[in-house]
Parts: sequence; structure tokens; C-alpha cells
Amino acid sequence: MVELTVDGQAVGAEKGKMLLPICLDAGFDIPHLCYNESVRPYGACRLCLVEVRKNGRGRMTTSCTYPVIEGIEVLTQTEKVLRARRLVIELILAMCPGDEEIQEMAREMGVEDVRFEKEEKDCILCGLCGRVCEEVVGANAIHFANKGSNREMIPPFAGEATDCIACGACVTVCPVNVIGMREESDERTIIRWKRTLKMKKCKVCGNYFAPWFQLEKFRQQAGLPTDFFDTCYSCRE
Ligand code: SF4
Ligand code: FES
Repeated sequence: MVELTVDGQAVGAEKGKMLLPICLDAGFDIPHLCYNESVRPYGACRLCLVEVRKNGRGRMTTSCTYPVIEGIEVLTQTEKVLRARRLVIELILAMCPGDEEIQEMAREMGVEDVRFEKEEKDCILCGLCGRVCEEVVGANAIHFANKGSNREMIPPFAGEATDCIACGACVTVCPVNVIGMREESDERTIIRWKRTLKMKKCKVCGNYFAPWFQLEKFRQQAGLPTDFFDTCYSCRE
């Protein structure tokens, strides 16, 4: 364990753990978009900036990628920090001006107008969907492609995501809710990745509960018996 101070308050933390979750757990309000505790930090959105002082010297850093060490002093609400975060959210808003989540976040941070040229994107390029797909699900079905203003998160060759198991994990973690999932009859579609898969019907309640492809992948990975997913999660309880 190490001790640090956050806005003058003493906080104990596990050494090496990232600063953002420590501050959030301790009740400090730090805006963030690309952080999720289930995947490795990536530092994409730059919104979680804080000032860290060590041995009398201070620097601005993204708190989601900063492993804590003994004795640091963290400042989350200085004018310098707030100004930097306002610039970051303004840039994100310029990229995705139609996104209501971003508009709301910007308003809360005191940003109403955008001084930069506006684009018409909906994805903030946080990379969370791809990281969850790779690190948690193990499907690795979507990736970043292209550079600069053409950068985008897409399935290989911008076609259907053939490795996607339609589990919906990416839909859940997307901070701006732009992936989308639809279930109709015995099919589930992950809308953004153009992936439609047949669902399995529960032998007990008769409801379609998950894509065959997903269940079979999980079953094989875990070495489970062939009838393991014959019943849905609710009927098994
Ligand atoms: S689709 Fe959503 S989760 Fe994926 S990179 Fe874009 S904003 Fe992030
Ligand atoms: S949450 Fe830290 S950079 Fe996005």
C-alpha cells in the first residue's frame, strides 16, 4: 500500500494501481470516457487529466494511465486542469457535434461553443469496444484502421465482422452508445458491425437467449459438455 494526497485529502492505495479508479473510489469527480476497469488503460480521450506533484515538481497527466506511487500529491480541480479538460472536451465535441452524451458532458464542464472546425462523426475513437472484444471476449473482431482524421474502428476490410460472436459486450461499453444491437425473432444483429447471428432457444422456457456462435465458442474455450448451453441463464438458476 502507498499513501498519496488528492486535493489535500490523504488516500491509501495499492501500489501500481492506476490513479483514476483510486480517485473515483475515493469520491473525487474526474471526467472520463475511455476508461473501463475490465480492460487495460489506453489514454485515448485525455479527459481524465489531473496534476501530479512529486519532489516539488508538477506535471499534467492522464490519471487512467498513471500508476500511483508513495507520496504524490494529486490535484484534480485546479484552474490549469479544468482549462485543459475544457479544451479536450471541446475537441471531442468538434469531432462528434451531434452526440448528446458529449454535448451534456461539455455543458457540465462549461463548454457551450466549439471554436474548431466541426466534423460529423459519431464515434469518439475511445477504442473501448475493440479492447473489450480482444481482452475480455477474446474475439478480436474489430480494430482501428487508417490514420489522422480518417481513423475509425471497423471490422476487417470494413465488411461484416466475421469473428464477431454478437455477445454485445462492445454495445455495453461504448460510452456514446453508437454501436447498437437488435434482436428479432431468432436473430441478433450488432448493427454497427453489420453482424447478424442466429440465436439459441432455451429448452426450458423457449426463449432465444444468445447467439449459437457465441455459446459454442465459450463452450469450447471452457471445455464444457455439449449440452451445457441447452438452457438459458435464468432457467439454470
Ligand atoms: S464505437 Fe464506441 S466504444 Fe468503439 S471506439 Fe467508437 S466510441 Fe469507442
Ligand atoms: S479516461 Fe483517461 S484518457 Fe480517457
